[in-house]
Amino acid sequence: MSEFQYIHTKVEEKVALIELNRPNVLNALNRSMVTEILTAMETLDRSDEVSVIVLTGRGRAFAAGADIDEMANDTSISLELLNQFAEWDRMSLIKKPIIGAVHGFALGGGFELALCCDVLFASETAEFGFPEVNLGVMPGAGGTQRLTKLIGKTRALEWLWTGERMSAKKAYEYGIVNRVVAPELLLEETIKFAKKLVQQPPLSLRLIKEAVHKAVDYPLYEGMQFERKNFYLLFSSEDQKEGMKAFIEKRKPNFQGK
Ligand code: CAA
Repeated sequence: MSEFQYIHTKVEEKVALIELNRPNVLNALNRSMVTEILTAMETLDRSDEVSVIVLTGRGRAFAAGADIDEMANDTSISLELLNQFAEWDRMSLIKKPIIGAVHGFALGGGFELALCCDVLFASETAEFGFPEVNLGVMPGAGGTQRLTKLIGKTRALEWLWTGERMSAKKAYEYGIVNRVVAPELLLEETIKFAKKLVQQPPLSLRLIKEAVHKAVDYPLYEGMQFERKNFYLLFSSEDQKEGMKAFIEKRKPNFQGK
């Protein structure tokens, strides 16, 4: 996948790395870059060579938000007709685990992109925030929804209204971030975690992700029914046979993702 202009991708040992690559503008997300991220993710999601996707930014930031230069002259109608956020919706349809590695700024659309990840590793120096309010607008790619679901209404409103920047430590306390690590170890630790997931049966990871996402949106009863069906579904897999047989034979399972 070398045809991209604004991102860089590589695959190693079943871990795909997507790096945002506009370091001169702190990886400001122009529309083409978002299209490229989605194209890469959907391709990697279908690839047998990939089990886990890691998303990070080159240079001194993860991403400092949507590209302000690009949208400064937009109108309500041009935005409605462009329907650019429909692309962001497709991110939640990615079935494989997405692990974010955030360093430096994750602001506005950059924070929204981080919130699209399933698990987040942050460097001690990472700063999260929604500065849209300072531009006379508000988040448009899921910020008000995803942050509120994660940390609750009162806390979300405080950060969204003030536009202040949240430290990695605070994001960890809120449960936004799974791990905070030294900046120089960020990618190494994230990839180490991704490689741990590579060892797990891929179909289980996939259906667990789907069920956990439903837990956020569904009432408990519907969520339980959904979970049950996914549980039943896994009994059609070779990995279920292998996993249980290996347990009984007291050996390590050899999962195939089938
Ligand atoms: N869009 C376009 N360019 C951006 C950008 C953005 N979101 N963020 C940074 N840049 C550019 C700067 O213009 C600058 O370019 P030049 O060198 O050509 O002047 C370059 O990146 C480096 O930035 P700074 O010189 O400003 O670096 P700094 O360290 O002094 O400040 C910062 C860093 C605090 C992140 C500051 O750049 C900043 O406030 N950026 C904007 C953050 C923001 O408001 N994000 C929200 C965007 S709106 C949004 O995301 C809507 C949505 O929900 C989809």
